[in-house]
Amino acid sequence: MSKLAFPSWPVFGEEERKNLLEVFESGKWWYGEKVKEFEKKYAEFQDTKFGVTCTNGTAALEISLLACGIGAGDEVIIPPYTFMATASAVLKVNAIPVFADIDLDTSNIDSSDVEKKITKNTKAIIPVHFAGLPCDMDALNKIAKKYKLRIIEDACHSWGSKWKGKGTGALGDCGCFSFQMSKNITSGEGGIILSDKKELVETARSYSNCGRAKGKGFYEHFLLGSNYRMTELQAAILLAQLTRLEEQTLKREENAKYLDENLKNIPGISLMKRDPRVTRRSYHLYIFRFLKEKWNGITREKFLAALKAEGIPAWAGYPVPLYKNPLFQKKGKGPKFCPISCPYYGKKIDYSKVFCPNAEKICKEAVWINHPVLLAKKEDMKNIIDGITKVWENKKELK
Ligand SMILES: Cc1ncc(COP(=O)(O)O)c(C=O)c1O
Repeated sequence: MSKLAFPSWPVFGEEERKNLLEVFESGKWWYGEKVKEFEKKYAEFQDTKFGVTCTNGTAALEISLLACGIGAGDEVIIPPYTFMATASAVLKVNAIPVFADIDLDTSNIDSSDVEKKITKNTKAIIPVHFAGLPCDMDALNKIAKKYKLRIIEDACHSWGSKWKGKGTGALGDCGCFSFQMSKNITSGEGGIILSDKKELVETARSYSNCGRAKGKGFYEHFLLGSNYRMTELQAAILLAQLTRLEEQTLKREENAKYLDENLKNIPGISLMKRDPRVTRRSYHLYIFRFLKEKWNGITREKFLAALKAEGIPAWAGYPVPLYKNPLFQKKGKGPKFCPISCPYYGKKIDYSKVFCPNAEKICKEAVWINHPVLLAKKEDMKNIIDGITKVWENKKELK
């Protein structure tokens, strides 16, 4: 089959050009009206009261942890199937990432394993709405309430997703979003923290703005913050991008549904399952699992190469769970940096002994298709279905 043509990313147009020009000509290129407008509009879009923009999703996580009072010696439960930022943000505030396994049917953190990982040091959970699919927030909020934990949603894949009609980012104490270039709404780089909690938001604003406080002097600093501010230029782009987000989200959802309906009967793959409480789903990635045992010795890598030959852009995603990264697996006596080896932690943590079977399995089985593909026409989805079906039916020839 000839190479299929899928939409390129990012999508932009006259709105971005017009907004950028307005900022250029205004002479005000940093924190101003466009940033404020975007914070308000995006918070509304995700069903929260307040938004604090920042430089990226990683910074949003770090600021949120600080604003929730998480610090030295605290343990934060996170999934191992996510981008490094979910873990590095925890380490950056001198807290300890503790890994809870994921559910293979959703790629999201498994709430029953979360409960098993709670100790007297646990202060927070960071659920990641992986690929845009909301986590079971009912179960996680119940656990958080029982053990008095904070919930910081890593919503860096879930712009527009809703759990029981409410936007991600509005389902815990606060939620963090990324607007980096690969993301479904982008300004190249960028991030935001959303919350309904006024005090938390004011603290987050202070951390993101050099420790300044509302109504106080420009050179008065109250917290150990930093400069994590978003520029007016980024906000100008995001305001334009936001006008397309709803339509694009619905389009991806419709195409993903069509793929699901037509791929679900192929025995060699297993699709992600959608909880009926997920009332809208953003697709940062379309994911399924390659079930090796059904392919008579064909490897996932061979399968991916066959998809490529059919013009289908699919890839394997994370090679290993986060804890298998050299950062955590330093040979010898373990990582030699604070907070992991900090004598004040009072405990020892050895990441070489961490093993989350489902995260290990999905790293070997996952097949990812990036979100711009889902903006293509229905006939392109049909070509994907035909291509995957053809590879399945001709698997003997792949040997
Ligand atoms: C799940 C997740 N969390 C956090 C981040 C960090 O976002 P940023 O790249 O904007 O710092 C990413 C980025 O890819 C991500 O995928």
